[in-house]
Amino acid sequence: MSENETKNLLEVSHLKQYFPVSQGLHKVPLKAVDDISFAIRPGETLGLVGESGCGKTTVGRSLLRLYEPTAGKITFDGEVLFDSGEQYDENGKMIVDAMGKPIYGQKIKKDMLPYRKEMQMVFQDPYSSLNPRMTVEDIIGEPLDVHKLYTSKAERREKILSLMELVGLNAEHAMRYAHEFSGGQRQRIGIARALAVDPKFIVCDEAVSALDVSIQAQVVNMFEELQEKLGVAYLFIAHDLLVVHHISDRIAVMYLGHMMEIADADELNNNPMHPYTLSLLSAVPIPDPETARKSKRIVLEGDVPSPLHMPSGCPFRTRCKYATEQCAMEMPQLKDRGNGHFVACHNK
Ligand SMILES: Nc1ncnc2c1ncn2[C@@H]1O[C@H](COP(=O)(O)OP(=O)(O)OP(=O)(O)O)[C@@H](O)[C@H]1O
Ligand code: SF4
Ligand SMILES: [Mg+2]
Repeated sequence: MSENETKNLLEVSHLKQYFPVSQGLHKVPLKAVDDISFAIRPGETLGLVGESGCGKTTVGRSLLRLYEPTAGKITFDGEVLFDSGEQYDENGKMIVDAMGKPIYGQKIKKDMLPYRKEMQMVFQDPYSSLNPRMTVEDIIGEPLDVHKLYTSKAERREKILSLMELVGLNAEHAMRYAHEFSGGQRQRIGIARALAVDPKFIVCDEAVSALDVSIQAQVVNMFEELQEKLGVAYLFIAHDLLVVHHISDRIAVMYLGHMMEIADADELNNNPMHPYTLSLLSAVPIPDPETARKSKRIVLEGDVPSPLHMPSGCPFRTRCKYATEQCAMEMPQLKDRGNGHFVACHNK
């Protein structure tokens, strides 16, 4: 393995994002993301899946520090951008003093401005994330202006036109307004805008979910081609496991703010271990009706609990048919089951 393959571009450890919300007269913490860890290698795509409200967008926004994390450590390209200072032992337990209080190490909060260029985000809704009254040229040119990435008007225009070409837009579209374009084309404009600053990492938050299925495939292919050309890494957030499986090198599964399973995309698809992943996979539509009839679907019963009323122990236990007493008492940690396949479950 070359050094590039072993060195992570992004490392996230024990990330927590709690939002204070009002309950009666009190403020209580809504634990949208609760102690999750993962890494992304340069040029890699990590898919992030899970039901609505499980914390996917919050992970993306927190690691770009669009939300200031409640706790955790974020390292990007060898630089620690954020560290709340808590320390953990090798079993993932926080190191505390005799009174149960955390023993803090160094706290770090780097100014994000120099890193904004390196880490970009593409949003779900291409209709609301682009200003409809701006021309394509100005939408793509704005990040070039902000980061002063040209020395003349001619260079600015040249850069914009080559970005448009990169994402498959015609040069004559440059002076048109965002509202004149279809969803798929708008998403291409959004991606060109994200690429304008030559980032190493892009969070794609449901970037194709709002598009028609036929357009989805084109845009997903474009994401892949851009990755091959530019070597950019993606955190690819999506509901649709088929889309995620197609584009991802590895896939991470979240439930109620926690990471349940991470593995190579094919390994997760062929050998899912966590009961929640099993139920997610069996909910994926099977194109062939005969195969669909024979397959034993696992239907998830009950709703996702509110993050304000988390179950004790394993967050999935209220819907898990394998739950035991231990599951109510102890939160399972992600453990390596070999070949980089990590699962958080007491009974696997
Ligand atoms: N700014 C906020 N203030 C308070 N609560 C929030 C905030 N943002 C998100 N939440 C809550 O945090 C939890 C996780 O939300 P998040 O949007 O990250 O989920 P998601 O997995 O992206 O869902 P979806 O698939 O619907 O986009 C939800 O319970 C949500 O209501
Ligand atoms: S830890 Fe227990 S409740 Fe949680 S997924 Fe595993 S078996 Fe189910
Ligand atoms: Mg979301």
